[in-house]
Amino acid sequence: MINYEEFLFEILIPEEKLKKRVLELGEQITQDYGGSSSLVLICILRGGVVFLTDLMRAIDIPLAIEFMAVESYGTGLRESSGQVRISHDLRTDIHNRDVLLVEDIIDSGQTLSSVLELLSARKPKSLEVVTLLDKYDRREIPVNVKYVGFPIENKFVFGYGLDLDDLYRNLPFVGVVDEEKYKLLKPKQKE
Ligand code: IMP
Ligand code: MG
Repeated sequence: MINYEEFLFEILIPEEKLKKRVLELGEQITQDYGGSSSLVLICILRGGVVFLTDLMRAIDIPLAIEFMAVESYGTGLRESSGQVRISHDLRTDIHNRDVLLVEDIIDSGQTLSSVLELLSARKPKSLEVVTLLDKYDRREIPVNVKYVGFPIENKFVFGYGLDLDDLYRNLPFVGVVDEEKYKLLKPKQKE
């Protein structure tokens, strides 16, 4: 496996900055949902997992967590297909509950808009989105996002839950990939 340092262009968001922002988002959500007794955070697997586990501990009201898996990016691809397939659905009914969808990153908005459509058909009491990162320049479908951790430019990022060909999700920071270097290094992985 290649060491990430060989293709890391730059650290975009260091660990401390992520921690601070996640705490702020948690405080904001705690205030906004203070009166709610039915908050459920829905995490989109797998990219949102790291963010979810930090964010949920920064929220100071009772809440439930649920997971949903959708496929939009194939390994090696850098474009959203516009097609979203649900490969793991929720276990519980979200009817009449306050639903907060937890996303790692919003790019074209294709994934999110399909998921929102599906969830709203189940008639939750409220439905909002919190995303760690927002690649606002890439939006193809307008989506209403209530909480954004960091708006970022159109660069491929990895770490803190975000993957590069399914690896490096465990890095504690968000880094930018040097695509040229990565392309050259990648075939060597298979040797
Ligand atoms: P969208 O449907 O184009 O909005 O795609 C969103 C999904 O694409 C995210 O949930 C990520 O899984 C993936 N994605 C988009 N940009 C990046 C990136 O820069 N790094 C890693 N994954 C990304
Ligand atoms: Mg994702």
